[in-house]
Amino acid sequence: MAAKREKFGGRLAVILAMAGSAIGLGNIWRFPYMVGEHGGAAFVFIYILSTVLISLPVFLAEVMIGRRSHTNARDAFARLSRHHPFWQVAGYLTILIPTLIASYYSVIGGWSVEYFVKSCSMSFVHAAPDQVSGQFVQFVSSSWTPVLMHLVFLGACVGVVAGGVKSGIEKFSKVSLPVLFVLILFILIYSVTLPGAGAGVSYLLKPDWSELTPRTFAYAMGQSFFSLSLGMGAIITYGSYVSKQENILATSTGTAVSDLLFAMLAGFAIMPAVFAAGIEPGAGPGLIFQTVPYVFSKMGARLPVLSGVVSVLFFLAIIVAAMTSLISLVEVGVSFLMERYGMSRGRGCLVVFAVCGTLGTLCSLSFGPLADATVAGMRIFDLLDWLCSNVLLLVMALLSVLFVGWVLPRRVVRDEFTNGGTVNERIFPAVYFLIRWVAPVAVVVIFFTNFIL
Ligand code: PHE
Repeated sequence: MAAKREKFGGRLAVILAMAGSAIGLGNIWRFPYMVGEHGGAAFVFIYILSTVLISLPVFLAEVMIGRRSHTNARDAFARLSRHHPFWQVAGYLTILIPTLIASYYSVIGGWSVEYFVKSCSMSFVHAAPDQVSGQFVQFVSSSWTPVLMHLVFLGACVGVVAGGVKSGIEKFSKVSLPVLFVLILFILIYSVTLPGAGAGVSYLLKPDWSELTPRTFAYAMGQSFFSLSLGMGAIITYGSYVSKQENILATSTGTAVSDLLFAMLAGFAIMPAVFAAGIEPGAGPGLIFQTVPYVFSKMGARLPVLSGVVSVLFFLAIIVAAMTSLISLVEVGVSFLMERYGMSRGRGCLVVFAVCGTLGTLCSLSFGPLADATVAGMRIFDLLDWLCSNVLLLVMALLSVLFVGWVLPRRVVRDEFTNGGTVNERIFPAVYFLIRWVAPVAVVVIFFTNFIL
């Protein structure tokens, strides 16, 4: 089926769509609790380092694979390797991983929907501050509401994808990011002025190197990959909609910087509130759902209307941020089904909805009725998150840099990076070195130290 492929309409659209994919629950929900679980500022430091030295080269490699092959993530590897059997198979990982991630990601999306609904009824404004944390536990362990919310959220994202790349994905990303930025900033200001917030600020700024273990590196790198949507086909897929004239170094760096900025903003918005609320920073996946409502309920005692309005907008912003990310995951599978099996966009969307809806339901139930179904002590949800962000993502990201660094001819890589010799020529050798040596070696070393130690 040789239908004409869609394309993003220009630089801003590319950055917004990629940043939309990158900035999501990974920044607002996952980053703060990873920082909390893995030693505060020391983790942040390693995180920034690995973003610059490892993630950025991987990001570039993925954009190149997409743009060069001009097809979905699985077929990209097959096409560019001239159908080498290894890459034919490896390419399937780029479909498997986003499917798994989309499944549990939309569960958290569903939590945000529930919290949005709750804030619309002013529920946090009137709650006693120490009750909100308990409410969260009660909610996620109840069986059906979270499942329903998960399906609603997934359905909404699939709906946008069904609208296509330009009129669905691109339009949607353009509105969401600025709104999100303003809202996070607002929460941040309030949060750092809470009594007792100072401890949270220094937790993010003062590294305690004794907390640093080989694990920290693995988790920081995994988080950085997750946050930049790497190792899961999303950037390859979006890269395939980028035009040949785009300067990919500029778009990639723009995306990475905004992602980092959002993660830090979210950290400073959440951590001080965590400390002010006396919540354990290592509380895990529920962290923002326990702390942010606390902030709102505190604020509600003095400024009920403001608190009510901001809480509604905040959860709405989270929903939107999560949507732009989930959309990029759904698009991976849909573009694959369309191009490989000749399905229509609509039918591809239905298939993805059915698969991720089912898997996600299991993840959601693992907080309640299926809590006892564990593997190596992990619930289904935690297992998927761990497996994806600490194992599969790393494997796939490694394969992507190896592919660009060692399988594609240098001439092709140079051509992609410099747009046929017109831009960034001078720094190409340095970037090529990072892609060929630094990123793969770092990923391998970190991966193995994590498993051996
Ligand atoms: N990067 C997104 C986030 O930080 C998550 C995501 C992962 C999106 C993988 C797309 C692909 O929330």
